[in-house]
Amino acid sequence: MSTVIDSESSAPAEEAPIQSFLVTFIIRRYDPEVDAEPRWVDYDVEMYPTERVLDALHKIKWEQDGSLTFRRSCAHGICGSDAMRINGRNRLACKTLIKDLDISKPIYVEAIKGLPLEKDLVVDMDPFLDAYKAVQPFLVANSKPPAGKERLQSPEDRARFDDTTKCILCAACTSSCPVFWTDGQYFGPAAIVNAHRFIFDSRDDAADVRLDILNDKEGVWRCRTTFNCTEACPRGIQVTRAIAEVKQAVLRGGR
Ligand code: SF4
Ligand code: FES
Repeated sequence: MSTVIDSESSAPAEEAPIQSFLVTFIIRRYDPEVDAEPRWVDYDVEMYPTERVLDALHKIKWEQDGSLTFRRSCAHGICGSDAMRINGRNRLACKTLIKDLDISKPIYVEAIKGLPLEKDLVVDMDPFLDAYKAVQPFLVANSKPPAGKERLQSPEDRARFDDTTKCILCAACTSSCPVFWTDGQYFGPAAIVNAHRFIFDSRDDAADVRLDILNDKEGVWRCRTTFNCTEACPRGIQVTRAIAEVKQAVLRGGR
């Protein structure tokens, strides 16, 4: 246990121990080799307020049931692999602190919606990534940069797409979208965010191609502006605004 020095007496004073709590997690489990349907399973876990839902999943997997299946990599909000529904809201498990949840009630954890469920908290990300790849999420330039130099861009031009560079492809936005739940063909917010990142990049020459792709019946016009995507984004990206800017660019016929 660490100690602090009492400034009045210069005597070491004991720090109060951090209080732990028993928290109930109810997790929607599904093993395709055993279960006909997903089932909810309760786990009681000793947690500290500064721990995250990801820590609870680790404790359950390492101390109670090794078969619990979920994705995570960085554990610090960078890789985007642990998006899940926590108390009915899409969040990253590694960014959701226990002290920010109401632990007087059980905490419900389930896989994100709208993508095929594979096992427990793991979904098949292929349809999500296929939509992402379809919008050409890379710089397309028809000319070479000046010899030995970078392509220059003004700070104002860079600012046009700054917000959408922050995407970590977690799928929290797309899997919170009611249109995506009901229409498996809709590109979804994340694909449009990543198209926006290049459509508004002054160094890119394929904005017209991407706008044409997103003018499809399953493109930007399927968005119903429900703002679920913006609320779900753990990076604070103004997703609905980005979609609106792409819609305006489609109507203008260019960036
Ligand atoms: S826009 Fe936000 S919520 Fe959507 S995939 Fe990117 S980081 Fe995740
Ligand atoms: S584990 Fe990488 S974002 Fe949460």
